[in-house]
Amino acid sequence: MTVHIEGDAGQVIGPVPRRLFGSFVEHMGRSVYTGLYEPGHSTSDDRGFRGDVLELVRELGPTVVRYPGGNFVSGYRWEDGVGPAATRPVRLDPAWHSVESNRFGLHEFVGWAEAAGAEVMYAVNLGTRGIQEALDVLEYCNHAGGTELSERRRANGADRPFGFKLWCLGNEMDGPWQIGHKTAEEYGRLAAETARVMRMVDPDVELVVAGSSHADMPTFGSWERTVLRHTAELVDHISLHAYYQELHGDTDSYLASGAALDRYIRTTAGIIDETLAELGLDKKIGISVDEWNVWDLRRWNEVDQARLAEGGWREHPRIIEDDYTVTDAVVVGSLLSSLLRNVDRVTMANQAQLVNVIAPIRTEPGGPAWRQTTFHPFRQVAALASGVSLRLAVEGERLRTAQHGEVDLVDVAATAGEYGRGAVFLTNRSTASPTEVRIRLRGARYGVYAAETLTTPDGGTRHTANTAASQPVRPVPLPGAAATSDPGGTTITVTLPPLSW
Ligand code: AHR
Repeated sequence: MTVHIEGDAGQVIGPVPRRLFGSFVEHMGRSVYTGLYEPGHSTSDDRGFRGDVLELVRELGPTVVRYPGGNFVSGYRWEDGVGPAATRPVRLDPAWHSVESNRFGLHEFVGWAEAAGAEVMYAVNLGTRGIQEALDVLEYCNHAGGTELSERRRANGADRPFGFKLWCLGNEMDGPWQIGHKTAEEYGRLAAETARVMRMVDPDVELVVAGSSHADMPTFGSWERTVLRHTAELVDHISLHAYYQELHGDTDSYLASGAALDRYIRTTAGIIDETLAELGLDKKIGISVDEWNVWDLRRWNEVDQARLAEGGWREHPRIIEDDYTVTDAVVVGSLLSSLLRNVDRVTMANQAQLVNVIAPIRTEPGGPAWRQTTFHPFRQVAALASGVSLRLAVEGERLRTAQHGEVDLVDVAATAGEYGRGAVFLTNRSTASPTEVRIRLRGARYGVYAAETLTTPDGGTRHTANTAASQPVRPVPLPGAAATSDPGGTTITVTLPPLSW
């Protein structure tokens, strides 16, 4: 079976934004506490930042990290997390039925993000709070000095403003599970008035208004239209959130998640365009896929929630610490390819989340940190995708799926960077057989520098996961990849193992 992929080096979808490789840290479960922050851990520095985790984060390469939530932010008081740690209040976090000690807060996160080499994307609480508190945290973070709030920041040890550019106007306000859930009208008005005044305080901020929590929300579409009618003039991006899982053993549909994400992005883009046209606005609004990942929601619904309820109110309980398999990693790879194929509309994206909570990096308290299977495709794409994303056409075998219709058996994205450096990202959705791929790229001459694959390890199955004790799932060299060049371009041939990235 051979799949043909064709393109022209001049057919560019758009530049690859570095912010496409973002991640997310929420005060949830063990993401912060005993995740990236654990005073007393053998690798921690004097600020309590785990050195082993920081090392893995730097290797993973997230460029921007969203903080502090997620559902958590909709009940959060940002000022609880500043000032002397010993006097910070301990509070209930209703979103995750947990106790929040506030030992880690704003300054700690800024220090950590700096150590990780990532930009901060800060979310304000538009669930239980509103315009005033959003303004307060903005003034605290971004105003140089001379006011009560900016001087408080300076007294708390940050002489220079943090200068955050990226601000999310609340989180998933369309979801009935959200603290302070709102109708599109209510949220649209609040987001618009918050955005208007935030811009008065700092005209340089980039604002992200909350779109839909997933494509199956009953309000998807009407939510975006209503919210944008109120906010389009005032915001730069609209978010979409997308999580995928394997349901009822339907692996083919799960493997088609990248195609489902393509559709979700293109539909959202169409709604943005329609609404801008209706409003007569000549501007661009980007799509911020600021939560995406694979997530076994059944485990959350059936196991973790019950455990939370039984355990009472506790600090940093274990929640949604999904163990990712080979299949999950292959799906994550194809979701990254989808983001690359849509860079004409997607301005940034954040894999949710970074440590322990549905994360590429896991830890044990007092113990090791390790790479989950999903770590690898993210690291590879963040490191290798640069320059521009190329438009390619796929011809060949298709896969029929129950949930997402017919999709290409082989999923592809490709980038062309500086100094003649290119990268091709391929997913073989066939669980049964290897697939030969021929890629014809006109107008460019390439050789093969390296080829790697992530697939079922020797002796493993597609359900194999990495654990604290052993990490068998990782990219390995893929033999046989070859390129031949002629005056018209380059032809690359490669054979992909079954179910591989
Ligand atoms: O990432 C986990 C949760 O998923 C986030 O808190 C929320 O925004 C989403 O529903």
